[in-house]
Amino acid sequence: MKFTAIYLLLLASIGLASAADIESGKKLVAERNCAACHGADYFTSIAPTYPRLAGQHEDYLYYALRSYQVETNANYGRKNAVMGSQAKGLTDPQIRNIAAYLASLPGPLVVKK
Ligand code: HEC
Repeated sequence: MKFTAIYLLLLASIGLASAADIESGKKLVAERNCAACHGADYFTSIAPTYPRLAGQHEDYLYYALRSYQVETNANYGRKNAVMGSQAKGLTDPQIRNIAAYLASLPGPLVVKK
């Protein structure tokens, strides 16, 4: 019984965590001009070293952006001068919204269920 309650609580918190705002994410990437490198459709990036983002898994995008924020963390930091400066100005909810927006765009990176 106790375990059921904990399980339900866990499910509820996961549900809340994914309540991202796609429209807000769209505005954020436009304001910050992420398309300048990642391409207007976030798939046709301007150079091969600039990753495609459209249709990528939402949680992958979220953790990628978070890892640029904690760049020196030995376990999950990602050090990149360009993306470090892009990601550091974003709050956690902003990153969730951006990830939700980019994941919603058409792209063949993942198989949609
Ligand atoms: C000046 C060019 C530039 C701009 C502007 C830029 N990016 Fe990037 N982005 C890059 C490069 C280069 C990489 C690859 C970095 C690396 O090797 O880790 C990257 C990587 C990423 C990744 C990781 C993708 C993956 O597959 O691991 C995400 C997510 C991302 N960018 C999102 C954004 C968002 C959101 C913005 C706007 C807030 C943005 N980028 C603005 C150049 C840019």
